Amino acid sequence: AHQWRGVIEEYREWLPLPEGTPTHTLREGGTPLVDSPWLSGLTGADVWIKVEGSNPTGSFKDRGMTVALSVAVGQGAKAVVCASTGNTSASMAAYAARAKVKPLVLVPQGKISAGKMAQAIVHGAQVIMVRGNFDDCLRISRELAEKFPVALVNSVNPFRLEGQKTAAFEIVDLLGDAPDVHVLPVGNAGNISAYWKGYTEYHREGMSTRLPQMLGWQAEGASPLVRGEVVRDPETVASAIRIGNPASWHLAVEAAETSGGRFRSVTDEQILDAQRRLAAAEGIFVEPGSAASVAGLLQDVAAGEDFRGRTMVVTVTGHGLKDIDTALSTFTDLVDVVVDPEVSAAAEAAGLA
Ligand code: F0G
Repeated sequence: AHQWRGVIEEYREWLPLPEGTPTHTLREGGTPLVDSPWLSGLTGADVWIKVEGSNPTGSFKDRGMTVALSVAVGQGAKAVVCASTGNTSASMAAYAARAKVKPLVLVPQGKISAGKMAQAIVHGAQVIMVRGNFDDCLRISRELAEKFPVALVNSVNPFRLEGQKTAAFEIVDLLGDAPDVHVLPVGNAGNISAYWKGYTEYHREGMSTRLPQMLGWQAEGASPLVRGEVVRDPETVASAIRIGNPASWHLAVEAAETSGGRFRSVTDEQILDAQRRLAAAEGIFVEPGSAASVAGLLQDVAAGEDFRGRTMVVTVTGHGLKDIDTALSTFTDLVDVVVDPEVSAAAEAAGLA
């Protein structure tokens, strides 16, 4: 029997790996591309959802982490560091455990979900909580990596984007061509840059006939790319993308502009609404940061944007179980239904009898 080998082995010829790089993998990637009757119906387009929450640690970060960690370890790193809103740190901690190097994580205090915190801790990371936001954490992590023997694996590390670009390869491999439109959430702006890199590299080598328009969605309270300026105090319920000064700003702007795409924003209310609607309509539970892409598509449709006849891919970046507190908090009308252990009682409560 054969199983998916992980993004390094599946796409090795497309990755500029230094000679002698070991492969530290959890067999990430190879994630489902699920058709969306609901969104296809709303748009008149052929809409596919790339479910990145199906990666080993529950987010797309694993694609970049297998490459960044493998290269860092190949170059002799004994410790790795990242700043994170929770998913990068969860992923780094897992891959560091596998590669037997020491993971050091900097997170904004009180601003990452319990599930993501648990992942970092259980995998054995040293977690430092910073009285500040993600942007502060990234600034400190960069400086730590400059001054001390610890390798930085945030997406400013180019090998992160190399790994993450494989998601675009998978989509083209599956659909037989690039989609017309690609929709995704944007925080630190690494992922949109990585997808664009993947699409353009495949296109250059004749693997696709077209390049997609890249539509990036930010949370309104953390939308520097929409406003065109740094946001000092980013705020959003979508903690994954609570970022005011994205590291890959220029690459992301280039991706949007070159592709004929754009950045727009959605409110927290739209994000939580989209999270619920996607879960109910398609059986796909994503975290709020991921739901920003779906919320964005819904907003475009409401605004009369015409997507009819096109092929669209919507990336949902992280699993809904990453942040159950936020998910449950939206169900304010939730009432516990408790019954005695009798069929009749359950049937009555369920309205069956
Ligand atoms: N969706 C999720 C679930 C994320 O965790 C992130 C980023 C993004 C979208 C945005 O991707 O930064 O490449 O534009 N999370 C980072 C982290 C910042 O630390 O986990 P991006």
